Amino acid sequence: GAPVKVNISKIEPGQQMVAEWRGQPVFILRRTEEALTNLGKLTDTVADPSSEASVQPTYVDPTVRSIKPEVLIVVGLCTHLGCSPSFRPEVAAPDLGADWLGGYFCPCHGSKYDLAGRVYKGQPAPLNLPVPPHTYETDTIVVIG
Ligand code: FES
Repeated sequence: GAPVKVNISKIEPGQQMVAEWRGQPVFILRRTEEALTNLGKLTDTVADPSSEASVQPTYVDPTVRSIKPEVLIVVGLCTHLGCSPSFRPEVAAPDLGADWLGGYFCPCHGSKYDLAGRVYKGQPAPLNLPVPPHTYETDTIVVIG
């Protein structure tokens, strides 16, 4: 499939948009400072904190999993059986447990991911949400693929 250009200028901090690439949803999230800080608190909670076993390009930071710290871009398909996880950015969610600090929740079998798409330990999903290949054409135009 052809690369897809996306204008990310309208995404507010804490919000995401969903693009489409190769027939797959791609989540583009503008993280807040708080969200970035919280990622550091989850190192022992997630299964693959530096994405050593997970799919992401080498030019992406291993921990926050992005080129620009605030902009996360991941394929929005659960690494278990491919359902699309729900965006659950709230830092406290009684239904998601005491260690929840915002992230993605898969409705099919309950896998939890943080706001870097890193899967929590002990979930049906084995790996982090994949980071697709991408580059910035300008500060606000990202090319996926
Ligand atoms: Fe997401 Fe099974 S498909 S937990």
